[in-house]
This record gives sequence, structure tokens and C-alpha cells, in this order.
Amino acid sequence: MDNPDFSSDQQGKKAKIAVFVSGGGTNLQALIDAAAAGKMPHADLKLVISSKEGVYALERAKNAGIEAVAVPRKTFDSREAYEKEIIKMLEQEEIDLIVLAGFLSVLSEDFVKRYPERIINIHPSLIPSFCGDGFYGLKVHEEALKYGVKVTGATVHFVNEITDGGKIILQKAVDVEEGDTPETLQKRVMEQAEWVLLPRAVELVAGKLCEG
Ligand code: GAR
Repeated sequence: MDNPDFSSDQQGKKAKIAVFVSGGGTNLQALIDAAAAGKMPHADLKLVISSKEGVYALERAKNAGIEAVAVPRKTFDSREAYEKEIIKMLEQEEIDLIVLAGFLSVLSEDFVKRYPERIINIHPSLIPSFCGDGFYGLKVHEEALKYGVKVTGATVHFVNEITDGGKIILQKAVDVEEGDTPETLQKRVMEQAEWVLLPRAVELVAGKLCEG
């Protein structure tokens, strides 16, 4: 990862990207659609790794012709063995950038330190609100509604050893509306913020990596 050998096509250099998922994969779909629309010219979506078997994100990847594998944590004796397997795949594909898109497995400090500013994550709130250990998926929106905030949103950030604590890359605010449920709020945050921000952030970081 320190000395990436970027792929290239007629348009020029591209960063090789692995997307880590655990569920439905709507953020993965946003990346696939942005790439197909020519909105991520520096990104080559090479590999999708799922922490769960049978999730729809794997189907989305396969439909787009992207190599997709399930690596369930529970099939390994230790987190070390699990991460060793993932690292092997990343090295085989010469991955330059890892995108966590709804990935629910926790990565160790060793893993994260191996890829400084080479892992990005999307979180469904305006960090530093409603983030950190235990805040994922619908739970984030439940807490935002419980608190009574009038504005929430999404954040894309680099991943470091502190949960949701790495440098912020992009953020977008979304209004909370009267009568919102966690589900309606989640949908609005995805549509108005996550699916817009993630492809933009990936292209931003991939572009910088290609510049060297
Ligand atoms: C997304 O809302 C993402 O922001 C969130 O999980 C959902 C995955 O949906 N991630 C976190 O909460 C991370 N802390 P998707 O599988 O449809 O992209």
C-alpha cells in the first residue's frame, strides 16, 4: 500500500478500491452508479468484501461485474486470523484504498495502522454527534430523534484507531422533519447525503492518491 502500482486506462491513473460491506449495500450501489456515470474517473472498484454471507450487497457487486467475497468473522478462530485473510486478498488485488460502506465488523488497531489515510468510512450523522462505539445504522437515527436535533446528516471520514474519530473528508446536513421515524430519517439521510457524499469523497481521495 505504501507504493501503489495504480491501474490505468485511456483516461489515466486509477486507484484500486475495495469496498467493505455487511448488508443491503445501497452505498455500494451509489459507488457503482457513480462509476458507471463517469463521476469517479480516478476510482477502479476492484473488490467487495462482506462480513456476512448472503447479503444483497454481494449481489449488487456481482451484477456490476465486481469480484465479491464473503469473509464471515465467525468462521475464523481469532480476529488476527480473520484480518490476515482480508489483508491477503487486499494484497493480491493491490488495493490502494478501502471504503467502509456499512461494514459492521470492527477492525483492529493493527489493521487500521497498516493503512493510514487509506481507509474511509461513511457514518450517518454529523460527527461528532451520534457517533462512536455502538452507533451504527438505525440506532444513530433513533438517538438523533430522541435528542430532538433539527438537523442531522452524514459524514465521510478517514478511519483511525478511534471509532469515528479520524479526519473528516466531507459532511452534508439534512433537515429532521416533524413526524420523522428512525426509518424515514434514515431514508432521507441516505438519499440527500450518503449517496451523494460517498462517491464524491472516494473520487476526491482517489484523485489525490493518483497525483502521488
Ligand atoms: C448506512 O446508513 C451507513 O451510513 C451506515 O450503515 C448503513 C449501511 O447501509 N453505517 C454506519 O452506521 C457505520 N457506523 P447500506 O448497506 O445500504 O449502504
